[in-house]
This record gives sequence, structure tokens and C-alpha cells, in this order.
Amino acid sequence: MSENKSLQTTLVHTGYRAPEGFSALPMAVHHASTVVFDNVAAMRNRRWHGKGGYTYGLHGTPTTFTLEGRLAEIEGARHCVLTSSGLSALALVNFAFLKAGDHVLIPDNAYNPNRELGAWMSRDFGIAVDYYDPLIGVGIGALIRDNTRLIWTEAPGSISMEVPDIPAICQVARQRGVLTAIDNTWSAGLAFRAFEHGVDIVMQALTKYQSGGSDVLMGAVITRDQRLIEKLEYAHMRLGHGVSVEDAYLVLRSLSSLKLRFDAHDKSARKIAHWLQARPEIAKVLHPALPDCPGHETWKRDFTGAGGLFSVLFDKAYAEAQTDRFVDSLKLFKIGYSWGGAHSLCVPYRMPEIRKTWNEEGILVRFNIGLEEADDLIADILQALQQLNS
Ligand SMILES: Cc1ncc(COP(=O)(O)O)c(C=O)c1O
Repeated sequence: MSENKSLQTTLVHTGYRAPEGFSALPMAVHHASTVVFDNVAAMRNRRWHGKGGYTYGLHGTPTTFTLEGRLAEIEGARHCVLTSSGLSALALVNFAFLKAGDHVLIPDNAYNPNRELGAWMSRDFGIAVDYYDPLIGVGIGALIRDNTRLIWTEAPGSISMEVPDIPAICQVARQRGVLTAIDNTWSAGLAFRAFEHGVDIVMQALTKYQSGGSDVLMGAVITRDQRLIEKLEYAHMRLGHGVSVEDAYLVLRSLSSLKLRFDAHDKSARKIAHWLQARPEIAKVLHPALPDCPGHETWKRDFTGAGGLFSVLFDKAYAEAQTDRFVDSLKLFKIGYSWGGAHSLCVPYRMPEIRKTWNEEGILVRFNIGLEEADDLIADILQALQQLNS
């Protein structure tokens, strides 16, 4: 290029190179849609898949490749792709492995938008969907058909908290040649080692613990299997998934404190769950580490922790207007969806509207225990309980 470039061209072609010899602990944030090549041959030889090189921002930058590598490592896997939300990660798995004429099994307590996705696939894409009892265990075998391609699991269900027997489900699925996928968000990949229990595909909503700040939406799909990652990468490309590198950086920045935060959420949540267990207003505490929670024995066998999310069932004597007043009266707990951030949250659910089968009595209220002092949260719950009868 001539030395007499116009100012406009000079503004575009900065000649920037990363400083030689500059090493710092944080990962650099590499922004790019376009990636440039030294020559045409280099462009033609470079492949977008397999993470062997950089071709276009949508297929990865050093920042997103680093995050994918770290997430795979945390789960004890080899491959990972990032998506724009936890829900888009669920959808990616469905569209990578299912086609018209196939059958998929989804637990009846699954994250509700995954059920909604199931209803859409069944209505508009010719994919048969059945919802199964999350505590089915080896009984899943009776639901597997010749065209069953995928079994979703969620451990535990993030509202009703049943802990499924994942090893049993995976063993039957493997014998019958069916893929298994888990929404492993509740345990952040820390408290449940999904691949060691036989799962083929892990999905994470990084929006929760991995980001930890209630400020990022992102998902990940993780696997050990080369064949599966190839299908996932192609579906990822065809659907045009991409994430902001700024968001990827925020997650990378939070990962070093992931386990410390998770353990702190866990400690406070168990203290509060035990306290609630003794309250006369509460019929059941649905916390996997407590015996009232369906699947508690499975949790004891397979999990090493619990994080901050659990639910309670109020005594059936309380009507919805009263439990709504309880939630409205909380001061430290905010009313809002999601979890894994520093702030405690609380949401009441209308279970019969989101479950095919729901036999429990009493209103279900879910708590996300944040990083506030547990005793302050207990005091907040106590004053709100006192409003139940006001
Ligand atoms: C269990 C579970 N899976 C997946 C998701 C979806 O994550 P996102 O909000 O990032 O779409 C959520 C969100 O609440 C969730 O609770």
C-alpha cells in the first residue's frame, strides 16, 4: 500500500500488533467478526471446525476458545461449544441430534422452556416427545422406542428438586444405543461429575454460577466424544450461534472463584433449609441434601455438594394469596428468575400448570440463596412468615 494513504484508510489500518513480551494474568479480550489471512492459500487451507484455527468471529476467537477449553476441563471433558443462553444450548442439542421421525424423552420436571421446546418440536418438526417421571431410574427402558434418539435428564429438577438416578438411566440408554444429555446447571459441573456417571452430553446455563454476577446470558454444550462434537459444531454453525467476547471474558473472570462461591451458596442454603425444616408453616423442604427431597438417597450416593437452589412446600392450610404475601414481604430476597448470583431470590410457582403429574399439596416457593450472611436471610424469612396470617 502506498505511503500516501488517505486519513480514512489510516484510521482503518492501524498496524496494531499485540505487544511482544507482554504477559499478564488475565486473558485478553479478542474482538473479531472478520479474521484476516496472510494469503489466499492460507485462507483456503484453514478449517472453521475442529478449533484448529481462526476463520471468522462466529466460529471462535482466542477468548471464546479459551473459555470453551476451561469449561470442558471443569466437567472432565474434551470439547465445548458456547451459545447465547442456557436455553439456546438446550435447543442446540435437540437440533444437532433430532430429526423428523425421531423420538425424545424429557423428564416431566425439566426446565419448563425445554418442555416448551419439546412441544414445538412435536407440533412443527415431526419429532415425537414423551415426558417421563424423573424418578423412573431403570424403568426408562420401557419408554425407549426403536426411534428414540435422545434422553434428556436434569439433576435435580430446578424447581421441584427430584434427584434422578442418572447412572441407571444412562446404563439403560447405552445398552439401547440412545444418547443421553443432562442439564447439569444446578451443580455447575462441580457437585455432579456427569461424564463419570455415564452421560454423553452436558449442557450448562453459564448464566448462573459460572457468570455469578446476574449480568450475563450464556450457555455451553460439552462432551468427551469426537463424533458428538462434530455434529454439535455443524449445528452450531448452521444455526449461527455466537457469543459476545465481552461476556465470555466476564465468565472467564468469574471462573476462578466458581467453587468458592458455589461452596458458600451451599453452606448458607443448607443452614437455611435446616431452619425451614423446623418451621410449622413449612410442610416439606425440597433440598436434595434433606430426606424430604425425592431422590435424596441418590443425591447422597452421586453428588458432592448442593449449591444455593432449593424449594419448600408450604403447609396446605395456606392459600396462594398468603404465600404470595410471604414472598412480597421479603426484603433481602428479591423476586426474580434465575440463580447463581450474589443476590438471594425467591419465586412462587403454580406447579399444576407446569407439570403433567403433580401430586403434592401446598404452594411451592423456590429460594436461590445468594452470598449474604445466612442469619440475615433467616431473619428476613422469619419476618415474612409472620406476614402469612396478617
Ligand atoms: C435448569 C435451567 N436450565 C437452563 C436454563 C436456561 O438458562 P438461560 O436463562 O441462560 O437461558 C435455566 C434458566 O433459568 C435453568 O434454570
